[in-house]
Amino acid sequence: MSTLVVVGAQWGDEGKGKVVDALAKSAQVVARYAGGNNAGHTLVVGDRKIVTHLVPSGCAYRGTLCVLGAGMVIDLDVFHDEVADLQKGGMLQNGELRVSLDAHLIFPFHRLLDGAREDKAKGGAREIGTTRRGIGPAYEAKAARRGIRVRDIFNPERLRARLEHNLASLGPELARLGVQAIDIEAEMSRAASWATWLQPLCCDTGELVYSATRGGQSVLIEGAQGALLDLDHGTYPYVTSSNTIAGGACTGLGIGPTAIDAVWGITKAYTTRVGAGPFPTRLTCETGDLIRKHGAEFGATTGRPRDCGWLDLPALRHAARRNGLTGLCVTKLDVLAHLPRVEVCTGYVDDCMPGVHDFSECRPVYRALEGWGDPSLPKQIGAARKLTELPAPARAYLDMISEFTGVEITLVSVGPKRSQTIPIRDAF
Ligand code: IMP
Repeated sequence: MSTLVVVGAQWGDEGKGKVVDALAKSAQVVARYAGGNNAGHTLVVGDRKIVTHLVPSGCAYRGTLCVLGAGMVIDLDVFHDEVADLQKGGMLQNGELRVSLDAHLIFPFHRLLDGAREDKAKGGAREIGTTRRGIGPAYEAKAARRGIRVRDIFNPERLRARLEHNLASLGPELARLGVQAIDIEAEMSRAASWATWLQPLCCDTGELVYSATRGGQSVLIEGAQGALLDLDHGTYPYVTSSNTIAGGACTGLGIGPTAIDAVWGITKAYTTRVGAGPFPTRLTCETGDLIRKHGAEFGATTGRPRDCGWLDLPALRHAARRNGLTGLCVTKLDVLAHLPRVEVCTGYVDDCMPGVHDFSECRPVYRALEGWGDPSLPKQIGAARKLTELPAPARAYLDMISEFTGVEITLVSVGPKRSQTIPIRDAF
């Protein structure tokens, strides 16, 4: 029994949902610690496709407790509908969901502000390409100490004071951007309508997760986005507004580093990115289109086409170090088998180094790999259930990733179905 953190090791969308779903089978608790409904995790259970944005991917198992931690930002409109949908599908029954009283809330004015700022920045250097879900404005409010927390919903007097504080701070910008002003009475009555539904789900989730880790339960902690979108260690300013790396699990859940036993990173066999910002191995040619097509690389949250490119090993090593990875899960290995050739980035021109130089200054140096492009390979890879059933070039590819990053490969995913997984090491 132990505590495992699972994080994205690229720019998000690495297939964390599927991996967490596979690992959650043996976990008693699955907790999220950061971000909000900017995330979108797709699980394929039998013939059913489940997309979650706020609820951890452990929701597909009966009896697994799903926790939304204090470091998250929660849009109650989205959360309510997501929970209702999952419950309709037979999930999250019997108290299997808990929400931190200290998590911050996203209000409609956060969403409107996010979208209006992006519209204003369109085409310029200030455009981040956010998901427009109000994530940045909600975290901004938190840092400015005018954020509205879950617990405030149950205290109308405090809620009103917080809304007034936000109106005073944001009013001029909202007006300048032509965004509807904050309607305090409307927000008060919306909040009141959520309170009765939300209250039974809320608790001190820090204590809950602490007790689970100390009580010998298997606790799976699910990251959102990826290391290169981390506010401190990513491609700033083209990042999200939270700490996505494994360290964020401690602050976002309220547990100490000593509670964590292992950290697994998820990487695709190639790289994708949505939104603006540097992406050294981005392919703007036909190969990029082929990866997008075979990898179905369209955002689960926004539907935006993702930029695609070769695997960037120095960036992955950077992510491995910032997260302290003890295991690496490689997803979508099957997708590369559709390509006539495969390349991998093994360094940057002029010894450019992530962490020292800005990613926008890094020009990739590629190594071409042999042995891909056989029309029988996609099928063979998709059907493999053991490493030894993988074609030799695919095995060599995995070995190269492990050697370069210094991290053992613990799981390989070879297709979207639950069954298309090669477990290498037990998580718990
Ligand atoms: P925000 O998190 O909506 O503020 O967006 C900030 C940046 O993070 C943008 O480049 C988004 O495209 C990116 N981003 C946020 N969430 C995800 C995700 O779950 N997957 C991939 N990119 C994301």
